[in-house]
Parts: sequence; structure tokens; C-alpha cells
Amino acid sequence: MEELKSIIRDIQDFPKQGVVFKDITTLLSDAKSYHRMVDLIAHRYFGQNIAQVVGVEARGFVLGAALAYKLGAGVTLVRKPGKLPFRTRKKSYQLEYGEDTLEIHEDAFQPGTRVIIADDLLATGGTVAAVYELVTSLGAEIVECAFMTELKFLNGRQRLPADKVFSLMQFD
Ligand code: PRP
Ligand code: ADE
Repeated sequence: MEELKSIIRDIQDFPKQGVVFKDITTLLSDAKSYHRMVDLIAHRYFGQNIAQVVGVEARGFVLGAALAYKLGAGVTLVRKPGKLPFRTRKKSYQLEYGEDTLEIHEDAFQPGTRVIIADDLLATGGTVAAVYELVTSLGAEIVECAFMTELKFLNGRQRLPADKVFSLMQFD
């Protein structure tokens, strides 16, 4: 895991002063590392009857789509405002460096659909808490929220039920 972690680089003061941004593009563009990261996360959910992987725009799509393919599941898109064409539910939230709104199609799930929420990084947990609420409000069953990386010092996991968070790599 230390090898995978070392490929992610820190960018100081992006997108604003005081934030240390974890740049995962270096991991994604390295074929061996990207495949290993996806394989390690997917392995956790084999045989668990996952029907949909919910990907969070935009970096969450890169993990979500790959995971869904490995698990034989579909992909549900959670998008930034004004991008989804059908009727949506919306939720505004705060994240480490600002605020935003996410949307999901209101007919995204059959009741009880077993889903994983996928995103690249857990920071303050504002984003995933909003997605968790949207997905739950549409009647899906959330098996777990899966992240490539977690910034432990921001305590984002406290925004979710304790048994619903998994991260592959942690940073202190
Ligand atoms: C990033 C990241 C997570 C979120 C985590 O998304 O991909 O979704 O921040 O932060 P939080 O835990 O403090 O909410 P961003 O909104 O920057 O979007 P992007 O994926 O389009 O770059
Ligand atoms: N999303 C929220 N905080 C972040 C950080 N520090 N690095 C990368 N993505 C983020």
C-alpha cells in the first residue's frame, strides 16, 4: 500500500490557500497502479450482490465505472448541477474547499437496490454525506461507501455510519 500511496502527489495551496490537495492523476495514469487500486477495492465486494455503483462527479466516476465493471454492476451518476437530463433530487453541501450541489435522477433505483457509493477521496465528508442522503431517499440499500483515499485528520468518516466506510489508503 505504501507504494501506491507514494504515487499520489501533494499540491500545496490548491484550489485555495491552506489546502494540501491530493493529486491522484499520477496514480490513475500509471496503468499498473490504477489496475491494482481498482482490483483491491473490487475484491472487497465480490459475491456481495452489488447491483449499482454510484459514482460521484468527477473523480468518483473513474473509480465507480471501473468497480462496476469488475462487479458486473451498473453505474449510477451523481452529478454537479444542471448536467442530468431527467427529473432530479438535489442536495447542497460544504466540502473542504467550498460548497456545491449534487443531483441524482429521481428514478435511479428500484427499492432495496444494493449499492456502493464510490469516490476518490474522503476529506470532511460533506460530499459523501450529501450523496448518502440522496441515495437513501430514493430507497436504495447502501452496502458501503468506498474511497481510494481518506484524509484521516479531517474526520470525514464521522459523517457516516461507522460500518459503512471503507478507504484503501489513509493519510494522517
Ligand atoms: C472532491 C473529491 C470528493 C470531495 C471530498 O470533489 O473528489 O468528492 O472533494 O471532499 P469532502 O469530503 O470534504 O466533501 P470535488 O468537488 O473537488 O470534485 P471533482 O471530483 O469534480 O474534482
Ligand atoms: N477534496 C477535498 N479535499 C481534497 C484534498 N485535500 N485533495 C484532493 N481532493 C480533495
